[in-house]
Amino acid sequence: MTGPFSVRPLAVADLAELASASAEALADWSAEQLARELERANGWQFVVEARGRAVGFVCGQSVVDEAEILQLGVVKGARRHGVASLLLEYCLGFLAARGINRCFLELRRANRAAEHLYLKYGFRRVGLRKNYYATPVEDAIIMEKVTEGNIS
Ligand SMILES: CC(C)(COP(=O)(O)OP(=O)(O)OC[C@H]1O[C@@H](n2cnc3c(N)ncnc32)[C@H](O)[C@@H]1OP(=O)(O)O)[C@@H](O)C(=O)NCCC(=O)NCCS
Repeated sequence: MTGPFSVRPLAVADLAELASASAEALADWSAEQLARELERANGWQFVVEARGRAVGFVCGQSVVDEAEILQLGVVKGARRHGVASLLLEYCLGFLAARGINRCFLELRRANRAAEHLYLKYGFRRVGLRKNYYATPVEDAIIMEKVTEGNIS
């Protein structure tokens, strides 16, 4: 699926779409897990929409001047069209506007697509957590983006 794409806050109505078996946007997550994000203190969640359908999402949390991207995913049929880029640019702009200058995240070591995405946007590897993920067991790479003023 191609654009036009637009960004808006995640809504409960998006959960089924993102969690459908064919979408594969939630990666390791369940719809229930994503629904709980809507209740998270200091949490933020955005979706990219194309022709009335949610095709990708990002969620995270901010505490004081630090943020964490908790999950980001794009439905299979919409990948490689810049949806993740749009989500990342949007949430980095959202954080910058709040004076947040440090953002980190964890991802599976074998997830080369996601690692390339984050490297492209200035994140750097800062650590490794052995056997962090289950089913399948896999190491986590920790990545971080820090800027002097803010993260935009
Ligand atoms: C990783 C993922 C979010 C990328 O989404 P996307 O919308 O296809 O990404 P974009 O089209 O915006 O691509 C932006 C950049 O990401 C990287 N990238 C995306 N897909 C890639 C792939 N399959 N292989 C290598 N690099 C890839 C590239 O650097 C790309 O830039 P380029 O187009 O200039 O080469 C998507 O594949 C996905 O949802 N995967 C499953 C969930 C997941 O792994 N989430 C990350 C957990 S933190």
